[in-house]
Amino acid sequence: MVRFAMSECVPSVYIRQMYKAKAYSATSATSRLASTTITRRDATEQDVQIEILYCGICHSDLHQVRNEWSGVMPTVYPCVPGHEIVGRVTRVGSAVSKFKPGDLAAVGCMVDSDRTCPECKAGLEQFCPNFTLTYNFPDKHLGGVTYGGYSDSIVVDQRFVLRVPANLKLAGAAPLLCAGITTYSPMRHWGVTKGKKVGIVGLGGLGHMGVKFAHALGAHVVVFTTSPNKKDDALRLGADEVVISRNADEMQKHADSFDFILDAVSADHDINAFINLLRRDGNLTLVGAPEKPLAVAAFALLMRRRSLSGSPIGGIAETQEMLDFCGQHNVTSDVEVIPIQKVNEAYERLLKADVKYRFSIDMASLKSE
Ligand SMILES: NC(=O)c1ccc[n+]([C@@H]2O[C@H](COP(=O)([O-])OP(=O)(O)OC[C@H]3O[C@@H](n4cnc5c(N)ncnc54)[C@H](OP(=O)(O)O)[C@@H]3O)[C@@H](O)[C@H]2O)c1
Ligand SMILES: [Zn+2]
Ligand SMILES: [Zn+2]
Repeated sequence: MVRFAMSECVPSVYIRQMYKAKAYSATSATSRLASTTITRRDATEQDVQIEILYCGICHSDLHQVRNEWSGVMPTVYPCVPGHEIVGRVTRVGSAVSKFKPGDLAAVGCMVDSDRTCPECKAGLEQFCPNFTLTYNFPDKHLGGVTYGGYSDSIVVDQRFVLRVPANLKLAGAAPLLCAGITTYSPMRHWGVTKGKKVGIVGLGGLGHMGVKFAHALGAHVVVFTTSPNKKDDALRLGADEVVISRNADEMQKHADSFDFILDAVSADHDINAFINLLRRDGNLTLVGAPEKPLAVAAFALLMRRRSLSGSPIGGIAETQEMLDFCGQHNVTSDVEVIPIQKVNEAYERLLKADVKYRFSIDMASLKSE
């Protein structure tokens, strides 16, 4: 590991020791991801340094790499994506009490927040106006932007590092850090329990975790998919029923009947077709974040006092709760493990809804770069 001090491009207050890490980055919205070297800070007193073992591929990585969210969070290049990180602790700072070298550890979508605002005090760091996302966000330590988990290591404040239950397989545990918490959190918020009829739209990375959680929470689960070949998988994952969403007759059978629908679709689609399936006071929560705005028919909402909302990831305490829930119920993501060299191919397959049901990068493959 090469250590050096960088003082030229950051204010003197930030002068600190750093080291070089291997990573994969995109250098523009149209370039393929490729091997690179990045700078990470040495662990300061509150920091945990983690050797990354697996990192899931979230569709958000693809949106971000291709600058599809330019209106909300434009991409700064080079961009090192990845926010579904599990690994092993290699070093800890002097004030770290939560972890020691050798421990398993995980990092999700956030690496910091201001810790003082009402949202942080309520344990809802995902709403902190000053949070730091794991990649493509201003890096308070080094300047520039944060770099994510498509890398051999990462250094994160202990308050944003999660514990991984020992019984979970690591490749399948990585996606819990985004796909898991993003589906668990709104289900807890909207009271998904036994006796509720719950719909999951889009059987991808988020959707398949939504099915597992809704089933584990005891709900009657209906999967809506555009891919007829996923029907058997949906049932195996815990769905009670599967509807091919492009079949209007099948959809009509479920009109006015859902308590809650989670929409995890990554592309443009007719959201009104799903709002119309909600019963009185039912809620549809969007977790999918398509590039373009969705058209909402006012009548679909107002006729039965239905509501439409969104939900971003989840707070640190709830993420730990979700991981512990997964430990107790032995829930992990169904993954296709790939070497990092296949990441560009994986992105193309994501666009074709061809993933069962999350790519998880085996970061040992980065050693050969
Ligand atoms: N809210 C948050 O905090 C948060 C966190 C993570 C991700 N996200 C967003 O959530 C979305 C899903 O992410 P993901 O990683 O689960 O993606 P994914 O694995 O690619 O899954 C998306 C699924 O959406 C369905 N789909 C794709 N194109 C469609 C189309 N044109 N019409 C209808 N359905 C379509 C497909 O399911 P079927 O084959 O079953 O139809 C596909 O498998 C992305 O936009 C991502 O950025 C949001
Ligand atoms: Zn994500
Ligand atoms: Zn805050």
